[in-house]
Amino acid sequence: AKGAAMVTAVAYRLADQTRQIAQTLAEFRLSKAQLLEVKKRMRTEIENGLGKKTHDSATVKMLPTYVRSTPDGTENGDFLALDLGGTNFRVLLVKIRSGKRRTVEMHNKIYAIPTEVMQGTGEELFDHIVHCISDFLDYMGMKSARLPLGFTFSFPCYQKSLDAGILVNWTKGFKCTDCEGEDVVELLREGIKRKEEFDLDVVAVVNDTVGTMMTCAYEEPTCEVGLIAGTGSNACYMEEMRNIETVEGNEGRMCVNMEWGAFGDNGCLDDIRTQYDCAVDENSLNEGKQRYEKMCSGMYLGEIVRNILIDLTKRGFLFRGKISETLKTRGIFETKFLSQIESDRLALLQVRAILQQLGLDSTCDDSIIVKEVCSTVSRRAAQICGAGMAGVVDKIRENRGLDHLDVTVGVDGTLYKLHPHFSRIFHQTVKELAPKCNVNFLLSEDGSGKGAALITAVGCRQRVQEAQ
Ligand code: GLC
Repeated sequence: AKGAAMVTAVAYRLADQTRQIAQTLAEFRLSKAQLLEVKKRMRTEIENGLGKKTHDSATVKMLPTYVRSTPDGTENGDFLALDLGGTNFRVLLVKIRSGKRRTVEMHNKIYAIPTEVMQGTGEELFDHIVHCISDFLDYMGMKSARLPLGFTFSFPCYQKSLDAGILVNWTKGFKCTDCEGEDVVELLREGIKRKEEFDLDVVAVVNDTVGTMMTCAYEEPTCEVGLIAGTGSNACYMEEMRNIETVEGNEGRMCVNMEWGAFGDNGCLDDIRTQYDCAVDENSLNEGKQRYEKMCSGMYLGEIVRNILIDLTKRGFLFRGKISETLKTRGIFETKFLSQIESDRLALLQVRAILQQLGLDSTCDDSIIVKEVCSTVSRRAAQICGAGMAGVVDKIRENRGLDHLDVTVGVDGTLYKLHPHFSRIFHQTVKELAPKCNVNFLLSEDGSGKGAALITAVGCRQRVQEAQ
């Protein structure tokens, strides 16, 4: 009888544990009504960002980019491009040829940006960048050619023209001093002057979302939206000039860099944020900022997972109740690990092996729980990202007075490309929440490099036209 009582007690404890874990994860499961609410709020914030009177206090900044059209195929020439703000820093040479057989040829080199540089002084950052450009030009044997350059700088920038951008604030893993409030093109030019080795003609500063949209639009003219689901999360789209009250003029369209990562910074998503989201925010370089991004981008998903795992361990449900040093380490769960853990082809034993690699000693039960935590967190990410996108495409549809809109979204980013389920759940959500839109998704190939070059080409053409 004593044995039976013990078995009952164990069974009871297990059932209770399962229930408690389920309860914890339930907070991440959003209903359709909640997602529709996210879509609606995104729409409100979009209007606030675009409106003259509301812009200053708006969280979703809806920044004008001075990109007024998508490419038309006549772009031509050799361009340099820089790509700063994604997983890697790259310098590229892009050769675009127009005519019957349009071609784009690219050469690039990847450079590391050490954390000390990402979080050092602005001067150090730009010196490092210029050093990398110098190395690249040597490597390509083109030191003396004064090429036009497109600078993909994937942070919020106020633009008054194509070739100037004032950094609003750093996001993601960057926090260099003396850059916020400055024109990053000027900072780059000053860096080039300090080095006294070569000269460049900076023509355009480009957000990665815009580069992505332009790259896809080069192949597919219906592409009028760009999305990045990677280290950070953001979108851009072609908005009617008449709706962009922060820019003079009512004719035609302009691409707007939404900076939707800041959605929720005014508290409008507080009802769906969990204690784990708040913990991730508190431990970040930019507390209180980019709250939506912190719920749905690659840089933070692993951190949400880690915070949940710590809590479940504290409550004795995981890792035999022992919080290891590894689990206390920020940033251990990179997108690639989450992607592996959630892969359906992986047996639990392999999940265990991955956790082992990370230095987490797990039982088989542990790995089941870890996998479930990961998939719950990434599903919510894909869903709220989809809710945001549903808000965007419906806005475009209404702009044009259509009952039905066909549109293509150009997409890039490690989360979208590497994760085994993110893109599917994201697509499904957009479809469900924006039923009047038929949204086609196009993977961008190297949007930040190619797109920057295309925009630079358009910029050079505009210059010539203005001079005439
Ligand atoms: C961050 C940046 C934004 C960029 C996005 C994706 O949200 O603020 O400019 O587009 O990351 O890289």
